[in-house]
Amino acid sequence: MTRHFLRDDDITPAEQTEILDLAIAMKADRYGSRPLAGPQTVAVIFDKSSTRTRVSFAVGIADLGGQPLIISTANSQLGGKETPSDTARVLERMVAAIVWRTYAQAGLEEMAAGTTVPVVNALSDDFHPCQLLADLLTIREHKGSLQGTTVAFLGDGRSNMAQSYLLAGANAGMNVRLACPAGFSPDPAVVADATALAGKTGGSITVLDDPGEAVTGVDVVVTDTWVSMGKEEEKAQRLATFAGYQVDQALMAKAASDAIFLHCLPADRGYEVAAEVIDGPQSVIWDESENRLHAQKALMVWLVERAERRQAGG
Ligand code: CP
Ligand code: NVA
Repeated sequence: MTRHFLRDDDITPAEQTEILDLAIAMKADRYGSRPLAGPQTVAVIFDKSSTRTRVSFAVGIADLGGQPLIISTANSQLGGKETPSDTARVLERMVAAIVWRTYAQAGLEEMAAGTTVPVVNALSDDFHPCQLLADLLTIREHKGSLQGTTVAFLGDGRSNMAQSYLLAGANAGMNVRLACPAGFSPDPAVVADATALAGKTGGSITVLDDPGEAVTGVDVVVTDTWVSMGKEEEKAQRLATFAGYQVDQALMAKAASDAIFLHCLPADRGYEVAAEVIDGPQSVIWDESENRLHAQKALMVWLVERAERRQAGG
């Protein structure tokens, strides 16, 4: 079976560690690995806007000796005249992997089910697993290890970032606390999956509504926009609902004194995070953003090597 990366628990805890180890090694030797030399092409498809994901995949594919093919669905047949599985059947004859930023997780699942090349979720409404590889790499760099580290995510619990923190953090044996207002809790099925996973890895999952309680003593504080892509019409109501969840200096003071602050970006200073925090000494957002490149390069090497082994009958 071709391996895909559609959600954070598509890889085992050991595989997650293997990919992060590879990312650290590849970061130290940026141009030393060229498995896409040929060049092989990787299709990177966007239904939603992007800066970091677009640039980090394009640069990462080029670093690996390959050629990125950036496709906007606005001027392709996907999403209009053609299904994800028919698109995948066409692309697999020509590309080494498909990376897709989209809305529904179901579209990614359909694409993956219909193709022999690896499919990577570059953000859906439900998950942002590539961002979590970068976040875990950043936490490892700054905190030494992931196992037993405690992280608090504040904001929209139903968002892709919150739900990916639950699964990826559980996979890594972390203690994940989520603080979200009523009506914005994560999908109970995701909480159940994360809790079961944490039971195996020694991690834990806690869903709260009190931001102060969530951040008390934690090693890592994380937030994300209150208005994810696709939710723009709910903006006014969301800004009012989430008002008490801003990560400001008073909230950071409740975390461990050496706590770090993460945000996947783009950020709305003055809403989910105060400028003094995101631009302050505990913020590691620029490392986090750079780590998209290294983490995704490792992921692509890992997936493409497995796909080639499978095609060779290994
Ligand atoms: N963090 C992130 O995915 O950023 P972009 O939307 O700019 O890709
Ligand atoms: N939750 C945000 C993440 C952006 C990278 C969104 O989906 O818009």
